Amino acid sequence: MARKKIIAGNWKMNMTPSEAVELVNTLKPLVTTEDADVVFCVPAIDIIPAIEAAKGSNIQIGAENMYYEEKGAFTGEISPNMLTDVGVKYVIIGHSERREYFAETDETVNKKVLKAFEHGITPIICCGESLTQREQGITIDWIRQQIKIAFLNVTAEQAASAVVAYEPIWAIGTGKTATTEQAQEVCKAIRECIAEIYDDATAAAIRIQYGGSVNADTAAELFAQPDIDGGLVGGASLKPDFGKIVNYK
Ligand code: 13P
Repeated sequence: MARKKIIAGNWKMNMTPSEAVELVNTLKPLVTTEDADVVFCVPAIDIIPAIEAAKGSNIQIGAENMYYEEKGAFTGEISPNMLTDVGVKYVIIGHSERREYFAETDETVNKKVLKAFEHGITPIICCGESLTQREQGITIDWIRQQIKIAFLNVTAEQAASAVVAYEPIWAIGTGKTATTEQAQEVCKAIRECIAEIYDDATAAAIRIQYGGSVNADTAAELFAQPDIDGGLVGGASLKPDFGKIVNYK
């Protein structure tokens, strides 16, 4: 069965709740496609108003982060139950900005991935190499390690429903998109790694996104690659241009 595309926006630390409502209202009429799942991953405080604003549309609202404990003395964190209680079905896990600025590691990513599945939330699991790693020629080895640790103790059934976002760090927010060949090469390697950990059916089912300066001009070619099942979009998801990315065909 063909994989359904999944195109997600990552708003990062942008948009107040009132701005969020405005942006959802602007994009709503532009997001009518049935061919792709469209998810806006938004700051925690925007989740409820964005869900309200997105009602009656194909836009689904996701979170940008989640903690791996159920509840308790973890000041400032958001629990899985808090997300599911308001209807959140997707959460970004292990974005490179969280790894860089908030000390997330492959191990905490794995804990969060397991917890998300336990609560029926689909994780969008991020991986990606730095420019130095690319120049050293260790990109594929590095990504394989990130994937193997992220998926520790994840069942094949869970893995089949997961989303992986390949985001080369050097392409994030730089306007420097990876070439189509570079993006496809790594997304293919991720799929092969999933086939090694699990089996061909799981590898064929899992959805793999590319992220890093995706815009309305680059989306169509990237998303047409055999192993790229959509994108995780930062800057361009904050503008009406996101409508063009969603309707890339
Ligand atoms: P940009 O699209 O702004 O490069 O951000 C990509 C990203 O980090 C999405 O998670």
